[in-house]
Amino acid sequence: MNSYITFTLLSLFLALNLNPSLASSLDLTDDTNASITRYSTYVKNACNVTRYQHLCVRTLWPFAIVAKNNSSIWARAGVAVTITDTKQILRLLLRTRNSAVGKRERIALSDCRELFVDSLDSLYKSLAVLRKLNADEFQRQISDLATWLSAALTDQDTCLDGFAETSDINSSPTVRMIRRKATKCMQLCSNALALLNKLAYDGL
Ligand SMILES: *[C@@H]1O[C@H](CO)[C@@H](O)[C@H](O)[C@H]1NC(C)=O
Ligand SMILES: *[C@@H]1O[C@H](CO)[C@@H](O)[C@H](O)[C@H]1NC(C)=O
Ligand SMILES: *[C@@H]1O[C@H](CO)[C@@H](O)[C@H](O)[C@H]1NC(C)=O
Ligand SMILES: *[C@@H]1O[C@H](CO)[C@@H](O)[C@H](O)[C@H]1NC(C)=O
Repeated sequence: MNSYITFTLLSLFLALNLNPSLASSLDLTDDTNASITRYSTYVKNACNVTRYQHLCVRTLWPFAIVAKNNSSIWARAGVAVTITDTKQILRLLLRTRNSAVGKRERIALSDCRELFVDSLDSLYKSLAVLRKLNADEFQRQISDLATWLSAALTDQDTCLDGFAETSDINSSPTVRMIRRKATKCMQLCSNALALLNKLAYDGL
């Protein structure tokens, strides 16, 4: 079975949010159909433990072919996609340094910059450990990871709290965008923490 074709089809099905059973209407071979079903089962199974399951499936399906049901690869993927979004929002936050917003919003944005820098640091430390997991140090590694990922999540939550008193309707477009992206990032981070808990439970 050509895994490139499977990958492409899998992306199509997940992107369109279709049920694999619809594969039959496309006249796919049984083999292809079975692969699509299998890979979407892997990602749905991994994401089952997360709070934001749709977001999890949408962001992590490309890892299904490599990760299958390996919890340590899923946890690493969860952190990797969170890092990508965290870096993106940090770039935006740095660009909005001089944007014309009210005083309260300016303070909130400035706090968010510090919090997201901190958060990114914790996420990178986590990724480094996830890359060299080993049975001898597993318990300590999991405990470090839980500390850092919780800290990263708290930072991102705290950033969002800063906007809690400014209503969305009165916010500037910049603030609304930052808020939306920070919310998604926080949800990815929450998912990564859930995937870590699954790894702690499953073991290496
Ligand atoms: C593809 O898989 C679905 C669900 O597993 C099944 O209902 C359908 O009949 C299959 N189609 C083909 C062509 O095998
Ligand atoms: C997800 O978890 C629930 C229980 O929490 C279980 O009933 C369900 O079968 C699981 N789904 C998958 C795809 O593993
Ligand atoms: C992982 O997947 C294989 C087959 O794909 C299955 O036999 C095995 O039970 C699965 N392991 C877990 C822990 O789900
Ligand atoms: C999961 O993947 C990791 C890293 O690729 C590997 O070291 C480990 O042996 C795998 N675990 C299982 C159960 O296959």
